[in-house]
Amino acid sequence: MKTLVTYSSLTGNTKRVAEAILEVMPEGTAIYSVEEAPSPENYDLIIVGFWADRTNADKKAQKYMEQIKGKKVAIFGTLGAYPDSDHAKETMKNARELVKENEILGDFLCQGKVDPKLVARFENLPADHPHGMTPERKARLQEASKHPNEEDFIKAKKIFTEILKSI
Ligand SMILES: Cc1cc2nc3c(=O)[nH]c(=O)nc-3n(C[C@H](O)[C@H](O)[C@H](O)COP(=O)(O)O)c2cc1C
Repeated sequence: MKTLVTYSSLTGNTKRVAEAILEVMPEGTAIYSVEEAPSPENYDLIIVGFWADRTNADKKAQKYMEQIKGKKVAIFGTLGAYPDSDHAKETMKNARELVKENEILGDFLCQGKVDPKLVARFENLPADHPHGMTPERKARLQEASKHPNEEDFIKAKKIFTEILKSI
């Protein structure tokens, strides 16, 4: 079974999760960023990672995901929100929609440190702005800044090991 791990990552969080997943993949599994990834046509199992942007996979990941048809697929992502939040559920639902013409074997989400430049922009917004800094948002961003961590890598490896066993 030819297997590909591909990811879109601006600041490295999703790339690190992709590399953890690669550790439990069969020997010879390819790993590429979505910008450099070969056509999905060449593979049987494709694992795609994205960073969350506006309750969906980021644009570059979306473009790659939409090309995958009739394959075995598993997806994962990193995001600023808590992975058990409604926002995260909506993000994964939208991301799964992009690969719906495939057999979706599973998924995984964890938090990822939000780009400090973006955090600084939030901090400068007035408190009544929809993206303004509230104590709740501050706590969430602080928690995100510790991820992905070792526990996330262990969880990702466990989930993808199970996915492989299910084939
Ligand atoms: C422009 C931008 C938009 C973002 N939008 C969201 C979002 O809608 N929801 C969310 O939970 N996180 C959002 N984030 C946080 C990122 O998804 C998160 O930090 C992710 O781990 C970044 O991954 P990377 O290091 O692989 O680029 C956004 C980050 C940026 C820079």
